[in-house]
Formats: sequence, C-alpha cells, structure tokens
Amino acid sequence: MTASASIPRFITFEGIDGAGKSTHIRQLAGRLRAQGLPLTLTREPGGSPLAEKLRALLLQEPMDALSELLLMFAARRDHILHVIAPALARGELVLCDRFSDASFAYQGAGRGFDVSVIAALERWAQTLPGADDNAMLQPDVTFWFDVPPEVAASRLRADPRTADKFEAQPQDFFARVAAGYAARAAAHPERFVRIDAAQPPQQVWEQVLQALRIRGLYVGDQE
Ligand code: TYD
Repeated sequence: MTASASIPRFITFEGIDGAGKSTHIRQLAGRLRAQGLPLTLTREPGGSPLAEKLRALLLQEPMDALSELLLMFAARRDHILHVIAPALARGELVLCDRFSDASFAYQGAGRGFDVSVIAALERWAQTLPGADDNAMLQPDVTFWFDVPPEVAASRLRADPRTADKFEAQPQDFFARVAAGYAARAAAHPERFVRIDAAQPPQQVWEQVLQALRIRGLYVGDQE
C-alpha cells in the first residue's frame, strides 16, 4: 500500500503530547478540501465507532500496559477495516492524527515493550484480509512534530483541558516517547518528515506545506 514514489495518500501525524499537531492537521484538511480533494480526517486511538469506545477506555481507565497495547491495536484494526482502507479504496486522501508509530513510541519506548512485540502486532493488525504478507498498510508520509519534552510540558500546562492518562505522565516518560519517535524516524527515513515543532505556528505550518509540495501534493501557492 506504501507508494513512496507517487503522491502521498495516507498521511499520519505524530509527536509527544503538547507538540501542537492538532491545529495543523485541521488547517491542512480545510485547505485540501477547499481545493476539492476528497479527504477523510481521522484519529487514533479512535476513528470508527468501536475504536472511539476503546479510546474512551484507553485514555481514562487504569489498566496494565499489555492490555493497553492490545487495545490500541484492536482499535487500530477496526479503524483500518471500517474507515482507512475503504477511504483509500475510494481514492480519498486520509489524514490520520496518530497511527502505529505512536504505539512504538508510547507503548514501546514509553512503557518498555520490545520493538519486536509491537512489530508483530503491527503486521497482524495492518495486513488487510486477503492481502499477502508484504502488503501491510503503512502511511505514505508521517509528519513527526518534534519538540523538546519541556516545551511540550509547558504547552500542556497552559491547556485548560483536564489531562488524560497519557498527558498526566511525568516528563521522563515523554523523554522516552520522544526518543522512541526519533528511533522510528531513523528506521523509516523514506516516510518520516521531521517538523521542528518548537518553532512558532506559522513556521511549523510552512514546513508541513513545503514537505507536501516536495512530494507532489498540490497544497496551493499561498501560505
Ligand atoms: P491525542 O491524540 O494526543 O488526543 P488529544 O489531543 O485529544 O489529547 O491523545 C491520544 C493519546 O493516546 C496520546 O497521549 C498518545 C496515546 N497513544 C498511545 O499511547 N498509543 C497509540 O498507539 C496511540 C495511537 C495513541
């Protein structure tokens, strides 16, 4: 499903909590829709009715780390089958706020699961029924909003919303998650785009647009 040489269709957005990706995702979706591009905007955990129910449990209920990891992938499987794969099959662009790189970063680097355990779940959950084993669904482009954990923490403190289970984690957890994202980016340079998310919002936005232009996606000429 990955199409590195062609125009990206499945685009994911990653980063530690407080990296500031959500505003840019909404803004990008608005711009692409204004250009008449059919688009599905979605998120993980969640994105389908069942996965949204699992999201509520994942973000609020205390549970052991393995249950959390398995539920993340259960939610992802349902989301892929009912939302992502059908949208791609209809020829739509899919913008997804987090995907399996978040499981490598949060459950892997953050909670301490081995990469090989997560990679096995990734292969199961992201292989579509009837597809051969090499056809695992992967994003075409992954924007990694990279920000120092202390900057992200101060942004979260300024956010009036109540912290969920992940946002309430200590800063050293986010330092591990950030290192997990850096490792994913190093392992998948063909699809990862590092965005310097410590910069002001306008500069972050321009980095996103520029990366998409380079990959052949028309995002308009004006900022
Ligand atoms: P997030 O997408 O940041 O939503 P909001 O902006 O509304 O807080 O929250 C989802 C949380 O779930 C985030 O803290 C990261 C975590 N998460 C994982 O731990 N593993 C995963 O595989 C995914 C997709 C998310």
